[in-house]
Amino acid sequence: MTLTGRSLVSILDFSNEEVLAVLDIAEQMADALGWGDEAETQPVAPLDRILATLFFEPSTRTRMSFESAMLRLGGSIISMADARSSSAAKGESLADTARIVSSYCDIIVTRHPEPGSAQTIAEAASVPVINAGDGHNEHPTQTLTDLFCLRRHKGTLEGLKVGLCGDLKYGRTVHSLAPALARFGCELTFISPPALEMPEEVTEKVQELGAEPRVTDNLAGALDDLDMLYMTRIQQERFADPAEYEKYKGIYVLDRRLMNQAPEDMIVLHPLPRVDEIAPEIDDDPRAVYFEQARGGVPVRMALIALLLGIVEETGISKRSGLAEP
Ligand code: NCD
Repeated sequence: MTLTGRSLVSILDFSNEEVLAVLDIAEQMADALGWGDEAETQPVAPLDRILATLFFEPSTRTRMSFESAMLRLGGSIISMADARSSSAAKGESLADTARIVSSYCDIIVTRHPEPGSAQTIAEAASVPVINAGDGHNEHPTQTLTDLFCLRRHKGTLEGLKVGLCGDLKYGRTVHSLAPALARFGCELTFISPPALEMPEEVTEKVQELGAEPRVTDNLAGALDDLDMLYMTRIQQERFADPAEYEKYKGIYVLDRRLMNQAPEDMIVLHPLPRVDEIAPEIDDDPRAVYFEQARGGVPVRMALIALLLGIVEETGISKRSGLAEP
């Protein structure tokens, strides 16, 4: 098994074993960053590699955590500040852009509104490509970040009971997360209004991987024995008709009352940004781990970049002298 030189377009591009290797290296990266110590960061040796971000859609956490991860590895970043206003606006194809940008860097991170765009970019590029979201299709690095947080709290990814709630139709995070969880043998409950149900092709994928998801629109009724509840935002920007969005916004609000009904060890994750689906009143509930989850985006992306660039081995980070061995 080697991840060197590979791309990550769909979460299923990596086997369970490879996913676990990323998470293990991410744990070592978190140690190298001094998580748990008072001084959070440790200096690293400069790394002669360049990461390019190619973002055709807005992003805060994903882009900044990728940039932070590359800088923490000692590398450099270049980015198309606003890809929508650059050569794409002159009519350049995505494949041409990918070909050119890959001659300027060692690895590309891309986000684009079109499903399948990351695959197009990966096929045209001569360097590894990481999909940071292709429309409503997938968001595999969010899944790695989710699994990192989940495993830290539950000690395993195997056989957990997980509820995915919100906009399962347009939410790309759950399109990557559900298959990943199914492949680890988790029991899934899909919680959404019927109009925002999990797309059939994702449900079929999950079934092929051995899961038989429960489907409901009732959040309160689904809480009883969950290990993890994954809340998502209603994806306003993907509704063709604004009136449709108005119908569903605010449909689920996880508040103190619902948390009182939930199991004592049920953790709550959210890819963020949240709008109104999690009431701030539960932020200080120890089960609410979404901010910690977001923080994990840096060591996870450090691990992924380092593995794809071949600057660490799946067995550990010792190969790279600039990073402290845990
Ligand atoms: C998610 C996304 O972009 O799909 N955000 C993120 O990357 N953390 C979730 C969302 O926008 O709802």
